[in-house]
Amino acid sequence: MSAAGSPRPVWLDGKTKSIMDRAIAREKSLSRLLMTYIIAGLVFMLLPGTFLGVWNLIKISSREAAESISPAWIQAHGHAQLFGWVGTFILGIGFYSIPKLRKLKPFALWSAWLTWALWVVGVTVRWFSNIYPWHWRIGLSLSATLELVAFLIFFQAVASHRPSSGSTKPLEPWIFIVIAATLGLLASLLLNIGASFQLALNASSPAFPHLFDQRYLIVSTWGFIVPMIWGFSARWLPVFMGLRPLRNSILLIALGLNTAGVILGFLEQFVVAGILLVAGAATVVVAIRFFEPVVRAAKTINVHRSFPAFIRIAYGWLLIAATLGIWAARVGEAPGIWGASRHALTVGFIAAMIFCVGQRILPSFSGMRVLWSPRLMLVMLILLMTGCTLRVASEILAYQDYAKWAWNTLPISALIELTAVALFAVNLIATFAHPPVVAPSPLAMTTE
Ligand code: HEM
Repeated sequence: MSAAGSPRPVWLDGKTKSIMDRAIAREKSLSRLLMTYIIAGLVFMLLPGTFLGVWNLIKISSREAAESISPAWIQAHGHAQLFGWVGTFILGIGFYSIPKLRKLKPFALWSAWLTWALWVVGVTVRWFSNIYPWHWRIGLSLSATLELVAFLIFFQAVASHRPSSGSTKPLEPWIFIVIAATLGLLASLLLNIGASFQLALNASSPAFPHLFDQRYLIVSTWGFIVPMIWGFSARWLPVFMGLRPLRNSILLIALGLNTAGVILGFLEQFVVAGILLVAGAATVVVAIRFFEPVVRAAKTINVHRSFPAFIRIAYGWLLIAATLGIWAARVGEAPGIWGASRHALTVGFIAAMIFCVGQRILPSFSGMRVLWSPRLMLVMLILLMTGCTLRVASEILAYQDYAKWAWNTLPISALIELTAVALFAVNLIATFAHPPVVAPSPLAMTTE
């Protein structure tokens, strides 16, 4: 540093300068790519996902009957949230970060743009085929095919390039978990394409049959999104939260329990599956050491300082979701308990983790920006948790006929959650709309 405190100019030879220029140009392209994925994910989250979910819930509450709306509309909401929002975020973050974290050779950028286009068209066509059954047989099969092809291009791009250093270091456990989650995504897409063609050929409606849908949802939530979040939690959260070193072998046990739970759930052994999923969730909490005294202060610069508390609450929701799953399985036909378990997982765990970790990492991955408003982050997390608590409790009370008044609180919970989700979109879009705080540089290209 110079006496004035500014960095001294560094003189680079021509070759080094051209390598740096290329690296900066690639970093800028990757950031643009990631922002495009994130914005597409936000659009799916807002309209086809959350808005439709709120609409469905208001209709269910006004008729006081869980089965009063079309299963195709419920599935349109679920698919838009799981694949349109969460899936698009995961593909974008995967393209941006996996090759860097694993020090892989760079992939061709066109493959990431092609994946984006196929995926976005696939998820959009699926939503329209469920909502407006106009040529739905073609729409459903086309959508499932596009989603699978998009995934295969993604997989080829980020998984099949050898490490650039030729290093033969063994894979770290978090990478195993991300690989298992990626296989969970592949399994979900294969089930989706099989069921879509089956419906297109033989059925009279685009909705998956109820029992198949339950089994398919276990694979796409517990088999794909949950382990993906665990993998990235194991990679980033010990650093971000100042946690003690990971217990790597216990992490792999958690993955084993969870995978066994998903397989048994798919085979309709719902009670045993629920027990294994609870055991897996409890084991991952022990492995990542969320509730043990920290060794360093959390790195909460540029996010709200409550970030570690909400991560812990989200993992609490994961345990609640799995436990409600056992209860639902023991009761049998229990739409309120199944629905409560599903939203404890999707809103309490998945959405809360994306709100926390997403706002921590996405601004810097998107060209070294800073989060527009950490205070707004706190407000949305409080709203999300309030809406989720109200939703999970009222859904059991109302749908299971335990308390009639709970039908009136369901729409309130939906509007609170909708506000939280809309604020999340506002915070990210405002972040992207502001210029970066530092010019992109290869030295700043870290995924931490
Ligand atoms: C404002 C927030 C939300 C509202 C009002 C809402 C509403 C609903 C409603 C009414 C159902 C029908 C079943 C039931 O009554 O439980 C449903 C199902 C579902 N929701 Fe949500 N939801 C919201 C957020 C989310 C989020 C954030 C996700 C995922 C990230 C999600 C994923 C799902 C899934 C997977 C299903 C099951 C679909 C199926 O049966 O195939 N929801 N939601």
